[in-house]
Amino acid sequence: MSVSEQTYAKVIAIDGPSGSGKSTIAKDLARELGVLYIDTGAMFRALAFVASEQKIELVEGETLSNFLNSLNIEYGISDRVLIKINGIDLTEKIREHQVSKLASIISQLPSVRKFLLDFQRLLAKNKVCVMEGRDIGTVVFPDSFCKFFITASADIRASRRLKQLQDSGDDSFSIDQIIKDVKKRDDTDTNRAFAPLKKADDAMLLDTSEMTMQDIIKILSNEVKFRASHLGFKL
Ligand code: DC
Repeated sequence: MSVSEQTYAKVIAIDGPSGSGKSTIAKDLARELGVLYIDTGAMFRALAFVASEQKIELVEGETLSNFLNSLNIEYGISDRVLIKINGIDLTEKIREHQVSKLASIISQLPSVRKFLLDFQRLLAKNKVCVMEGRDIGTVVFPDSFCKFFITASADIRASRRLKQLQDSGDDSFSIDQIIKDVKKRDDTDTNRAFAPLKKADDAMLLDTSEMTMQDIIKILSNEVKFRASHLGFKL
């Protein structure tokens, strides 16, 4: 199929492991381009938080299915309120360290992935947006016109995470503990059976270990603009 015959989703897909800097990059890129920003990790986190509150066992079955059917998710309500479930603002709560672990576990369940896949596709329908996650370029929008895979070394990612926790007033973790958690989460995310963390063949790979945010945004935004103009997309 030639480029002119292929149709593309107007989604800028940004995937990569936790702590790679992809959230900051995705947010800044969306702002720079003036398009919607969609953080799919926040959705897995919010689901994990509510499931934990309701003591839902994280296994496939009727209880999980009833739980999913009972959820009303609202995303991107305002600058301050990113996500609500059943009317409750979870924007802050989902950033707690414990929620990261639960999100990694819940994201292995096929019914949860399917539920959020439908939600993510609906949210981005007919919109230009930056969507960030693990499987956006491979599963959610394999037809997206521009894909990036952002990574950084495990040590750098762990020290960024530690700083984030310290900045939020949590001094209870050591760097060794965080490195261990980062590697464990990488392992779970990469080796799960459904929609694992994986670079799409046609994604541009960027290692941010030694790069400044300014340089990264410049590279990405130039690439997006180039591809959009090549395909005749209006951003
Ligand atoms: O990006 P994050 O750290 O907020 O994501 C939280 C968890 O959700 C992470 O362990 C992987 C999972 N996730 C996923 O499986 N697929 C996505 N598209 C986004 C996140």
